[in-house]
Amino acid sequence: MTAQLPWLLLFVLAAGGGVRQVRGQGAPDTTGFISIDCGLPEKSSYVDDATKLTYVSDAGFTDAGVNRNVSAEYINNPSFVSNRNRNVRSFPGATRSCYTLSSLTPGSKYLIRATFLYGNYDGLGRLPAFDLHLGVNFWTTVNVTTIDQAELTEVITVVRDDFVQVCLVNTGSGTPFISGLDLRPLGSSLYPQANTTQGLVLYTRRNFGTTDPKQVVRYPDDPYDRVWTPWNVADEWAEISTTEKVGGATISPPSAVMQTAITPRNASKNIEFTLYPVPNHVYPAPRYIGLVHFAELQRLAANATRQFYLTVNGKLWYALPIKPDYLFANTIYDKEANDPLDVYHVSINATANSTLPPIINAIEVFSAISTANIGTDGQDVSAITAIKARYQVNKNWMGDPCAPKSLAWDGLSCSYDVSGPPRITNVNISYSGLNGDISPYFAKINTIESLYGDNPNLCSNGNSCQIKKKKSNNAIYIAVPIVAFVLVGTLVLLLRLMRKKKAKSGVNPRNGNEHNMMQLENRRFTYRELEVITNNFKRVLGKGGFGSVYDGFLEDGTQVAVKLRSQSSNQGRDGNAGSLSWRQRLRIALESAQGLEYLHKACSPPFLHRDVKTSNILLNANHEAKIADFGLLKAFQHDDDTHVSTVRVVGTHGYLAPEYAAALQLTEKSDVYSFGVVLLEMITGQPPILRCPNPMNIIQWVQQRLAHGNIDNVVDIHIRGNCNVNAAWKVADIALKCTAQSPTQRPTMTDVVMQLQECLKLEEGS
Ligand SMILES: *[C@@H]1O[C@H](CO)[C@@H](O)[C@H](O)[C@H]1NC(C)=O
Ligand SMILES: *[C@@H]1O[C@H](CO)[C@@H](O)[C@H](O)[C@H]1NC(C)=O
Ligand SMILES: *[C@@H]1O[C@H](CO)[C@@H](O)[C@H](O)[C@H]1NC(C)=O
Ligand SMILES: *[C@@H]1O[C@H](CO)[C@@H](O)[C@H](O)[C@H]1NC(C)=O
Ligand SMILES: *[C@@H]1O[C@H](CO)[C@@H](O)[C@H](O)[C@H]1NC(C)=O
Ligand SMILES: *[C@@H]1O[C@H](CO)[C@@H](O)[C@H](O)[C@H]1NC(C)=O
Ligand SMILES: *[C@@H]1O[C@H](CO)[C@@H](O)[C@H](O)[C@H]1NC(C)=O
Ligand SMILES: *[C@@H]1O[C@H](CO)[C@@H](O)[C@H](O)[C@H]1NC(C)=O
Repeated sequence: MTAQLPWLLLFVLAAGGGVRQVRGQGAPDTTGFISIDCGLPEKSSYVDDATKLTYVSDAGFTDAGVNRNVSAEYINNPSFVSNRNRNVRSFPGATRSCYTLSSLTPGSKYLIRATFLYGNYDGLGRLPAFDLHLGVNFWTTVNVTTIDQAELTEVITVVRDDFVQVCLVNTGSGTPFISGLDLRPLGSSLYPQANTTQGLVLYTRRNFGTTDPKQVVRYPDDPYDRVWTPWNVADEWAEISTTEKVGGATISPPSAVMQTAITPRNASKNIEFTLYPVPNHVYPAPRYIGLVHFAELQRLAANATRQFYLTVNGKLWYALPIKPDYLFANTIYDKEANDPLDVYHVSINATANSTLPPIINAIEVFSAISTANIGTDGQDVSAITAIKARYQVNKNWMGDPCAPKSLAWDGLSCSYDVSGPPRITNVNISYSGLNGDISPYFAKINTIESLYGDNPNLCSNGNSCQIKKKKSNNAIYIAVPIVAFVLVGTLVLLLRLMRKKKAKSGVNPRNGNEHNMMQLENRRFTYRELEVITNNFKRVLGKGGFGSVYDGFLEDGTQVAVKLRSQSSNQGRDGNAGSLSWRQRLRIALESAQGLEYLHKACSPPFLHRDVKTSNILLNANHEAKIADFGLLKAFQHDDDTHVSTVRVVGTHGYLAPEYAAALQLTEKSDVYSFGVVLLEMITGQPPILRCPNPMNIIQWVQQRLAHGNIDNVVDIHIRGNCNVNAAWKVADIALKCTAQSPTQRPTMTDVVMQLQECLKLEEGS
């Protein structure tokens, strides 16, 4: 006979070695379920009638797709056994769309089940087919074959991480959609064939006995909430059942399933059924694993025997005759996946000694899939995910960034090394509408070799934006400060210009190794050396009215960015720079303060800039400010670490907070101090250390002059008379608070931002 199965039609049991029989007792664990009704409005949930499990909206598990209701004619269809089939989430226009199930235990075994009921939700009346991926591994092809029947697929997997993704992949045969998604933790002794590199995809899970198709066994009868669908061919098989509890091994089905069985109506006949393999494009010849469950449900007379063989295609599947125990489940299973066969004729026949016909209580069949592909390096994933969120990159960035190769994110290049996870080597986020500060997360992608910014507003020189890595592993932090120039630095404006200093050039040496970087920090270069380093200023990384930033390499191969201020631009813009209005200066101050606040507050872990100074504030043509030069950027190790001790003082003389210079106590208040110095420069147009007549720092200089009660003595001559006096006083006040000796007396950057906003209002109101 051929059985009719609504979903994956037929199944297999194959002959071969490794068949095991187990007995034992186990206690299942029911915690940690995730039950999602896909397409349910955000924040809604309900308790399922049958299982009493709470189903929640999928809004918190995916940021892709749209909610749809199935069409009205199907809403009240009796085959809609559960609420969750009344709506779907569909994913038009996306190649891969993913759900992320998190808070899992790495190394643990889970059952993941997805259900699909089309119900003509899109009004097209066209049944789609699409692929389902388990993280970066192919799970199955979902080929929807009926409009109003729920179809389900399930995989048993051992997760590597504390999360797992379920992704729907458009294969050109219709728009992927999903109705429900469940995750259930399984005990480690269940389904021993599943491990980190091999998953089990359900072919069928059957409870022999009842002829009523509605008598599905699920939670709480099955503590793991597996779905056991009834199977009986009424004219061939008779049901036998008991109300007594049936015990068994952990691996055996729950009592509710084992309490029913079937036996041939004609006692001299065998139990027979045929299963056909269900191939797909990834597994054209699937390899199956079977589990068959038996328990004697009748108390047999002393002279009675029930004993039988199980054969597949005429070959013994299990070498010994099977003699079920009374009210105790025995499970016979394949230890390993079987070689593929074209068809599986299953026959259960009584032995010659048997006085009773054979029985069968339950069967499960799985196909083995490989889950050997591993996802992108976890740190790279979190960094690029943060970057994605930060810039709201409008690209098809879903699922794993690098794997599988065919679905790697647009704009990323990855390295695939057999010995480890894929790594991100290259980020091309051109034309993605980037704006804002450089995300410190770029610094966290350790293998990044280059980053492109061909956006016309961000880089003036087309291909020259490309940065090539010279030294492997050492480029970690090299690329990052350069990135700052490429992305942000159309114009590298040194506010110092306001002071009309004559410096011709400066260099920012960078090395991937932070230790080396510190040693390099104080090195000075001659103009001739810079010519050598930059190969005669050949490669422009960024360019603006004040000069260009060039790519270069030190003798040891360390990549550097060289900021060179051209003579002409120096002269051409000098006057303009000097005439930056008070309002422009206030805006620059506010924008820089916001940048610092972002570093301190919006990032986790927070970052210290450590080298806040006017020359690290970059302006574009519209005088919009960005904080740049993250070369000395340092992350707090932990949230509860309030300060970071460093081995040596880095930063720039004149901007260093006293506690840092003296005791290497580094906190975000050290950045606040440096920012206070920047504010004073903006007000006064003076450098942080004044030379004439005697060396004096700008803080003392301002304090002394303000002591006479006249702000005019302090304000830069270029803006004197053209600034709101109240705003100027207020900024001076903020600056002096920022530069208080004791870190605790200094405001936070959040306070500073608020105060500066008020100053700007005052100025704009006047
Ligand atoms: C689906 O139907 C429900 C109940 O009628 C309604 O509240 C909801 O807005 C509908 N959702 C969509 C996406 O049409
Ligand atoms: C889906 O099933 C139909 C009918 O069985 C078959 O014709 C079609 O090729 C299948 N599509 C895919 C993508 O497997
Ligand atoms: C998982 O099981 C398969 C099949 O038994 C085996 O080949 C593989 O080595 C196992 N993997 C691990 C990580 O144990
Ligand atoms: C039972 O099966 C045997 C063997 O196939 C057959 O000879 C016999 O006629 C069957 N009996 C009935 C009542 O169908
Ligand atoms: C088993 O014993 C009972 C009596 O206790 C008898 O009625 C029955 O026929 C016997 N069955 C067999 C198969 O010998
Ligand atoms: C049951 O099947 C096995 C394997 O095909 C065979 O060896 C045996 O003779 C059969 N037993 C009966 C009673 O038909
Ligand atoms: C059948 O019964 C005989 C006598 O009890 C026994 O020797 C033989 O092993 C039994 N055969 C099977 C397959 O159990
Ligand atoms: C970066 O991406 C843009 C658009 O996506 C493309 O035009 C450009 O060629 C890419 N650059 C490189 C170097 O791959």
